[in-house]
Amino acid sequence: MGNGSSKLLKQFSDRLWSDTELRDRFIQAFDNPPPLHPCILWCEDPPLERPFAVETPQPWQPERVDRLSLGAQPGKHPAHDRGAYYCLDFSSVFAASPLLHLSGIQTAIDVCAAPGGKSLFTWHTLQPDLLVCNEVVGKRLGTLMANLRRCQVSNVSEPEEAIGPDSMTPVSSGMPYSVDPPKSPLERGTFTAPLSKSETFTTPLSKSETFTTPLSKSETFTAPLSKSETFTTPLSKSETFTAPLSKSETFAAPLSKGGWGDQNAPNKSEKRCIATQLDPQRLAQQFPQAFQLVLVDAPCSGQSLLLKQKKVPGCFHKVTLNRNANRQKRIVGNAAQLVAPQGYLLYMTCTYSLEENEQICNWLLKKYPHFQPVSVPHLLDYQSHLSDLPCYRLWPYQGLGAGAFTALFQNQNLGEVRAISREDLAAINRL
Ligand SMILES: C[S@@+](CC[C@H](N)C(=O)[O-])C[C@H]1O[C@@H](n2cnc3c(N)ncnc32)[C@H](O)[C@@H]1O
Repeated sequence: MGNGSSKLLKQFSDRLWSDTELRDRFIQAFDNPPPLHPCILWCEDPPLERPFAVETPQPWQPERVDRLSLGAQPGKHPAHDRGAYYCLDFSSVFAASPLLHLSGIQTAIDVCAAPGGKSLFTWHTLQPDLLVCNEVVGKRLGTLMANLRRCQVSNVSEPEEAIGPDSMTPVSSGMPYSVDPPKSPLERGTFTAPLSKSETFTTPLSKSETFTTPLSKSETFTAPLSKSETFTTPLSKSETFTAPLSKSETFAAPLSKGGWGDQNAPNKSEKRCIATQLDPQRLAQQFPQAFQLVLVDAPCSGQSLLLKQKKVPGCFHKVTLNRNANRQKRIVGNAAQLVAPQGYLLYMTCTYSLEENEQICNWLLKKYPHFQPVSVPHLLDYQSHLSDLPCYRLWPYQGLGAGAFTALFQNQNLGEVRAISREDLAAINRL
């Protein structure tokens, strides 16, 4: 970095860190960027024998993700071209990982989707019935479409394609319609509606649970576990655990009636992905409170790109930060209006500034007080020291990636979820 940039970086870092040792490690990462391990998201069941040497997984790492040894070139392997996996930065996996705690998501929208990493993570991890991948920048839409199609997303429609009833085609693989929690390396309990929760336990506790409505339950425990539980009808539960126990939870989305998002709708095997090119404000007008999951991987000052040897002029400058923060508020404000009652909003960036991260979360909660931040159990060690809210940062000196910020919110409003009809989707063409 030049002297001018170094001075700005130093001033910038002083605002992030009072701990001078961590501040210096942060600054050092720009002078000597730590090597970034290639990383892949499997879009099919990962083979038992991997084609590349893999690093020891992080405890929370999804089964579908491999962090590869330095020097691996997954983009040049034939399996890449046939869409067996998608190459992404491990920071992106970190940012998207709160999704591992969601289940029963039927409708999702990625408001800032290109080139498609978070959309692919969502599709392959949560298996929603409908995923809308939106990208405002026309020339990035082509890359997004190409990645979705290559990486085994079924029924991908372009914005200009008709989405009326006649064009609906069933998914050939007949994906099961399911509200089961996503698969993970950890064993999970399964709950059925109207109980919306599942749980994950890690060793030395091993546990499996099944609940059916209104309240019958069977459990299997293996030692060393000591536990007591109380249930009251129809569905409240309290638990007491004694150590050693580590526990994480899965949150399920509410259900809706008719169209996508309706658990009882016919043609449940129809899964669809639609790419759109709409300003977030138009999306909010068209689909108010319609999606159980809304992703905002916001355009940002891109400071972490410096660690990938990219030039990002002015990325520490106040003017840049404020300009980006204003754009982020506009995007996330519109995105908030897309979230169904009890649905989720995931906000992510790949930059380090307070203005674009914690302050955006504060702004969101002030402006939309019906949202609450959701704590993500597996990210507790990554809690941002710059906020009291549950929000998480990966720093470049931690050696896992160039850096990311992520925060999950839930719409606390109650009410029926407005399902998305074919007519709604067809209307996209008229916008
Ligand atoms: C960080 S990138 C998204 C990366 C993507 N989610 C992924 O994982 O591959 C941000 C995206 O937001 C788009 N964008 C730029 N300005 C926007 C705006 N005003 N509203 C919505 N999206 C915007 C950019 O074109 C870019 O594709």
